[in-house]
Order: sequence, then structure tokens, then C-alpha cells
Amino acid sequence: MKKITVSAPGKLMLFGEHAVVYGHPCIVTAVDSRMFVTAEVTSSGSFELNAPDVQIKDYIKPTNEIGNGEIPKGAQFIEVAIKNVLEKYKKKLTGFSVVTRSEFSSKFGFGSSSASTVCIVKALSELLSLKLSSREIFDISFKTVLEIQGKGSGFDVAAAVYGGTLYFVTGGKVIKPLKIKTLPLIVGYSGIKADTVKLINKVSRKFDKKQKRLNQIYDDIEEIVERGRAFMLSEKWEEVGILMDANQKLLKELGVSIEKLDNMIYSASKSGAYGAKLSGAGGGDCIIALAPNSKRKAVESGIEKAGGTILSVRTNARGVKVEK
Ligand code: MEV
Repeated sequence: MKKITVSAPGKLMLFGEHAVVYGHPCIVTAVDSRMFVTAEVTSSGSFELNAPDVQIKDYIKPTNEIGNGEIPKGAQFIEVAIKNVLEKYKKKLTGFSVVTRSEFSSKFGFGSSSASTVCIVKALSELLSLKLSSREIFDISFKTVLEIQGKGSGFDVAAAVYGGTLYFVTGGKVIKPLKIKTLPLIVGYSGIKADTVKLINKVSRKFDKKQKRLNQIYDDIEEIVERGRAFMLSEKWEEVGILMDANQKLLKELGVSIEKLDNMIYSASKSGAYGAKLSGAGGGDCIIALAPNSKRKAVESGIEKAGGTILSVRTNARGVKVEK
């Protein structure tokens, strides 16, 4: 029966995290570490899933039960996405087998859940001849992620669908590709797994009685995003670095940075980076730094000395695509 493999890229937030949850823009780039999903329509009457990266082995249930009952954490995004596609496009499956494989650890914060959601929606679009547009894939994938996570802007879903480097506003109100040729980023992994929803809630709690200041921070982040976009387009990396430092200062005030990230960022800057910041929700995951080529090695070892691991990823990667 029909079988397909689809891949989608991971992502790194460049500017605008947290503010983007509340109606502001951000800039995200897709990274060339990809999620792969192989899906096959079968006649078994069952839905079967193997997703070793998230500890799902031989998960099986009747196809007419897809989306029902208790769903193990690692299976949620794939299963709810299938349910949403079948419901929306009024389709049925005679049987369905799915295997996922990731080139990156789900611990990095590269958006493995969103990437696998986007992959399965694209796979179903092909297998059921739905001919979904990128926008339709984004909308149904974002709905799925929100249904499971409850909170989020959808920027990671957009990166997985469209690829490249994007200017993105909450929920996909604006999704605009930025024509950037190179992006000399250095990525350092903290070794600590971050929980996005917990961090979003932490910010809300911290500023519960300081809404005015919170709104001011989000406005300032928006200004950084707008200026960052212009400097990135004109490849003024030194200025982009200065803005990264400014964004980091505001993220610290939001309370989402931690000592390990601060140390890695400080060490990157001391070793000659133009600037550095955390990327994503904070509380762990990765930092990103920008440096002139001549300082790249020094900055990398500076980050390592502070306990980080350098991840060599290329940015501006291609969005979701059919592999075979
Ligand atoms: C998490 O990687 C970035 C946040 O802005 C959440 C989101 O935009 O969905 C904190």
C-alpha cells in the first residue's frame, strides 16, 4: 500500500521569544537537523506507532480509536494530528503505520514535537491526496500543538513548514520569509531540558502585579525584533550582536535565564562574540552567539569552558518536504 517519508527541520529562535506569545513578532530560523516521519496506509485496521526518540515502541490501537482515550506523551502530537486531519477532511484510514526518526535530540529545544506534527500532516496530505497548501498544513499543525500544549505562538510550526528564516507574528498572523544568505551563528547547548509552558507561566506569575512593566518589556523586545530584521537583511552582524545582548537583558528581567545560560553567554562575549542570548523559552536548551570568523573558534571554546556543548547546525534550512 502507499508509503511515504517526509522530513521537516528543527528551529532556533533568534529574537522575540516570550513576547511572540502575546501578539508581538519574532525572528526564527530553521536548522538543518531534521525530523523524519515514514507513514504507510495499511489494511491492518490498526494505527501503529514507533517513535524511538520519545520512547514509543510498538504502540498500537484500532484506527477508529485514533485520538481517543489515554495517549502516551510521546505519541500525542502524531496521534492528535492524525485525528485532526481525518476529522477536518472527513477521511478514514483502513490501517496506518508510522515511524519517526530524528537527527536531533528532543532535549535540544529544536522543536521536535512541532516538526513531527508538521511531518505527519504533510504525509497525510500526500497519502490521502488532500493537496494541502503550506498555510493549511500550518493551521492544522498549530491547532494540534495548541490542543496538546495549551500555549504557544506557533513559530516553531512555521519554521518546520516554511523553513528558511522567518519574521513571524503570533498564531501566523504574519509569516514572512527573510532573504538572508548566511547567518554565522554559534549554537551552545546547556545540557538542561527546558519546559516551555512552565516558563511562560513563570513569566505571567512574576509580572502578575507589574503588567505595565511587562508590556513595556514586550514592546522593547518588538523594537529589537524590527531592528534585528533590518540589520540581518543588510548583514550588519556586529549590530545584530548588540541587539542580541539587549534582548538577553530583557529575557533576564523576565526571569527566564539561568546561571548556566548566563555563564555561557558571558563567556561567549568575553571570547570575542558580537553578542549572545538564550534561544527559546529559557531555563535551559541553547544559547546562540554571533562572532566574526576570526573569533569563532575562541567563542566556541569559551562556551565549552562554561559547560556548554557546541552544536554544529546550519541555519536557513528547507521547510517540510517529501523525501521518497
Ligand atoms: C519557546 O521556544 C518560545 C516561546 O516564545 C514560546 C512560543 O513562542 O511558543 C517562549
